[in-house]
Amino acid sequence: MKLEQRYEGKAKRVYATENPHEYIVEYKDDATAFNGVKKAQIRGKGEINNAITAHLFPLLEAAGIPTHFVERLSDREQRVRAVEIIPVEVIVRNVAAGSFSERLGVEEGTELRRPVVEYCYKSDTLGDPLINTDTAVALDWAGEEELSRIRELALRVRDFLTPYFAGRGIRLVDFKLEFGRTHDGQIILADEISPDTCRFWDAATNEKLDKDRFRRDLGGVEDAYAEMLRRVIAPAQG
Ligand code: TMP
Repeated sequence: MKLEQRYEGKAKRVYATENPHEYIVEYKDDATAFNGVKKAQIRGKGEINNAITAHLFPLLEAAGIPTHFVERLSDREQRVRAVEIIPVEVIVRNVAAGSFSERLGVEEGTELRRPVVEYCYKSDTLGDPLINTDTAVALDWAGEEELSRIRELALRVRDFLTPYFAGRGIRLVDFKLEFGRTHDGQIILADEISPDTCRFWDAATNEKLDKDRFRRDLGGVEDAYAEMLRRVIAPAQG
């Protein structure tokens, strides 16, 4: 049962439940970019991101990555384990794009010799600034051991998802993860994995099938999200 709202983010609402160790997450159609400066609705996004996350998280769990996901409850809702979100956004990159390309002057689409893990402070008012793990420890956002666990899990997510998407005709360019701490101190994967939080390029054409279509006004946003849901749930090809 959904009890009081605990938190409202840009794309989701979080509710308490009768179980103190579980929350219900509701996915909204609201989309923002540039830390909330650009706002719109993407029709069907809430249902699609709920469905994609509900499909992927159990697969990650089966691959040995602990996650907050418990069960999908409805089109827009899922039950999750309650966590305290660690205010560090973890970005994993396979291919140069976005802020990495801009910051370093590396052409978008350049394959990276090895995956790159970056950390940002989760703060809209500051524009999610890039940090390093020393900063997170110094400011008590996470412990040294928690951060090494987070890095290990983030790379395992990458090792699972990269071939998973490749088998469905998608180049996984980069993605953003959030981790949480359970009441008993376990670090688990939280938040979502969806076209809002990943760059997905069609493997054959490099067509963008993610939120960059919204960020960059490329059109076809709803169609791209729907196409990604189809690819995610499809069996692997070849
Ligand atoms: P970036 O290249 O803009 O730093 O984005 C890296 C990845 O993180 C990309 O897949 C989009 C995702 N992302 C979020 O999920 N939330 C954000 O606030 C930002 C800026 C990026």
